[in-house]
Amino acid sequence: MITTHDLYTMKQNKEKITMLTAYDYPSAKQAEAAGVDTILVGDSLGMTVLGYQSTVEVTLDDMIHHAKAVRRGAPDTYVVVDMPFGSYHVSREEAVQNAIRLYQESGANAVKLEGRHIEEFIPVLVAAGVPVVGHLGLTPQSVGITGFKMQAGTKEDALELLEAVEVLEALGAVMVIVEAIPSDLAEKVSEKVDIPIIGIGAGVYTDGQVLVYHDVLKYGTDFAPKFVKQYGDFDTVGIEGIKQYVKEVKDASFPSDETTYKKKVFIDDENNS
Ligand code: KIV
Ligand code: NA
Repeated sequence: MITTHDLYTMKQNKEKITMLTAYDYPSAKQAEAAGVDTILVGDSLGMTVLGYQSTVEVTLDDMIHHAKAVRRGAPDTYVVVDMPFGSYHVSREEAVQNAIRLYQESGANAVKLEGRHIEEFIPVLVAAGVPVVGHLGLTPQSVGITGFKMQAGTKEDALELLEAVEVLEALGAVMVIVEAIPSDLAEKVSEKVDIPIIGIGAGVYTDGQVLVYHDVLKYGTDFAPKFVKQYGDFDTVGIEGIKQYVKEVKDASFPSDETTYKKKVFIDDENNS
């Protein structure tokens, strides 16, 4: 398995880091089999697998539940798990407690938190031995304030984001995700710090890329943001397969002989009657 240190080395060697979300055992197995460097158990699971409108409804227990399944499916892959909405905002004590619980119970390699206000407890987590990943730019837990749109589009906001990344690095964060920001800003950010910068909707110059499993494979998603590329079509494969199953049950061509236990246990009864 890749270590946090390997991620730095990959950045130094200009080897792009791949990250894909996964939320359960089969998606994690696929991600590991396909050779992704890192898996993110994103709170996007609220939308992709639980059908919520946003990530706001996702709980700490949800994250632990899904992350444990991912760990079982991808025992040899570096796994990052999201801290959900509200689990690190009430107080420093609660944030630290929740992060430690998530790290310990999920078996993930690092925990991810959105925004800047996380600065005050990162050193506590780092001191406790918990690798922390930041997430700046579009932070979906704040969608009620920001909307789902590009962030840091002015020079002032861009400089603020740049500074925030440097602060996160100084505090001991091991990696930062930047979402939906201009490509030239993402490039500057990636050059400025030694920790890997993973982009989503941030152009090609970041140290790596992350996408959502269900977006990549077109699986139950209603729309794709500008920055998504679809590499497969699970919806079509799945619906066509299910249609065929329904048809064969209706016309009694399933189950056929090959899928039937043909041992005759009532044959004697019938002969005797
Ligand atoms: O939850 C998630 O999937 C994420 C990625 C989009 C970075 O946070
Ligand atoms: Na997330």
